[in-house]
Amino acid sequence: MDATATVTPFSTLIRVASHEQHTEAETSSFMSDLMGGQLGVDAYARYTEQLWFVYRALEEGAEALRDDPVAGPFIQPELFRTAELERDLAHMRGADWQTTASPLPATEAYAARVAECARSWPAGYVAHHYTRYLGDLSGGQIIRDRAEKTWGFARKGDGVRFYVFEGIANPAAFKRGYRELLDAVNADDLEKQRIVDECKRAFDFNGAVFRELGAEFPLSA
Ligand code: HEM
Repeated sequence: MDATATVTPFSTLIRVASHEQHTEAETSSFMSDLMGGQLGVDAYARYTEQLWFVYRALEEGAEALRDDPVAGPFIQPELFRTAELERDLAHMRGADWQTTASPLPATEAYAARVAECARSWPAGYVAHHYTRYLGDLSGGQIIRDRAEKTWGFARKGDGVRFYVFEGIANPAAFKRGYRELLDAVNADDLEKQRIVDECKRAFDFNGAVFRELGAEFPLSA
């Protein structure tokens, strides 16, 4: 084989492989209704609550992975979202929001899988890390803008802090750096394929959460 043959960078591979599911997530009825301004702030708060369970799993697992040869380079505290989600939830639900917060079954399964990867399969954790954080840095900004307009949150203020990365001055540059980390991930081709498969699974989990949220907040049209 020609050693100079160009190889598709892993960051491209994972993006292309999840493209179809990305479109499905974006156009799921819950997301469409939310983005279309057709749901109340209670639906947005319930969604934010689900994210809290997922990010808690992602970030509780992060500390132990800091020095891991595969997942370690991805652990960057400026990405952490748990504190921001807690602030948003306190704003929307009141200081005692945790007493009523509950994961939907799909959220529980999603968070359990993230925790399992964090514990026993760092490369799988990378798949979950990519699916959430790179998405938040990208489409998250569109969601923030819509949430501010629909429910009247202060620009980049309480309620939408989850979407504001105070520690990342230049998201486009950060995403370029992140893609370089993906391209250099310490994994062979077979393991990279497994990461791609886990990324697809991560999108499936998100789709299942949206379906359950959609069932809880049907449009009464
Ligand atoms: C209404 C909902 C959504 C909108 C409007 C949206 C929009 C976007 C946009 C505009 C990009 C940037 C594409 C680019 O830089 O070329 C993006 C990237 C991304 N989104 Fe979303 N998105 C949404 C939901 C989601 C969900 C639910 C997930 C998964 C949990 C997700 C995961 C990602 C990922 C991983 C990327 C990075 C792709 C890459 O460059 O490798 N998005 N999204």
